[in-house]
Amino acid sequence: MIQYTIVDNMETMGYWAADMVAEQIGRKPDSVLGLATGSTPLPLYGELVRRSEAGEVDFTAVRTVNLDEYVGLPSDHPQSYRYFMREHLFDRIPIDPENTALPDGMAQDLSAECRAYDQLIEKWGGIDLQVLGIGHNGHIGFNEPGSVFTLKTHVVDISERTRIANARFFGDDPQKVPAQAITMGIGNIMAARKIVLLVSGRSKAEILERALCGDVNPLVPASVLQLHPDVTVIADQQAAACIEIPEAAMI
Ligand code: PGA
Repeated sequence: MIQYTIVDNMETMGYWAADMVAEQIGRKPDSVLGLATGSTPLPLYGELVRRSEAGEVDFTAVRTVNLDEYVGLPSDHPQSYRYFMREHLFDRIPIDPENTALPDGMAQDLSAECRAYDQLIEKWGGIDLQVLGIGHNGHIGFNEPGSVFTLKTHVVDISERTRIANARFFGDDPQKVPAQAITMGIGNIMAARKIVLLVSGRSKAEILERALCGDVNPLVPASVLQLHPDVTVIADQQAAACIEIPEAAMI
């Protein structure tokens, strides 16, 4: 059963998500964390930085794998996901850069890069805790509607809807948003031992309801999470507005 924590604000969302990450690292100091970009996880990263500075979480042995990266953006491009992760987390905690993996969107051979990414995840022993957001079209990572559930890391064409949503980071011009990305597949995500899905805002309420309460269907990629044995959803009241959560599923 999917577990739910409903929060009043983003600060509390960050706090509870950080508790899950801290608990994971406390149990296994060299945990492999699957990380996500986007606005929703920012309070989580802020809280992890705070706890790291306070000596409450030790990142020195932690390894991280991110969900995705744009094709064609170098890692020092301010809109690359590597840059985002450095700015909000990696440069602010004592983590070895060698232990922070993202797909290389500048790789000459993108298919070889995808295979290498899968091999790295496997070599590191798989993902212990995967942090996820959800797109307005139900995507997870860049697994857009219609994605095959068994896929591992692969190259995707970014949907028009997602390019419009991300245009705010590219001078409000969807055409400037890269047309492709490398993303972990749903196969990688579903192999994570534990998943925490963070969702905020009224604009996500309908898709969240379809994903978690509707049919499991590749047209709503996040619906696959209903098949995972250990998913916690941390949502604000606005995002959870369309879901009737059974008492027993609340934590
Ligand atoms: P957001 O992105 O957190 O910026 O809304 C979520 C996503 O598209 O996965």
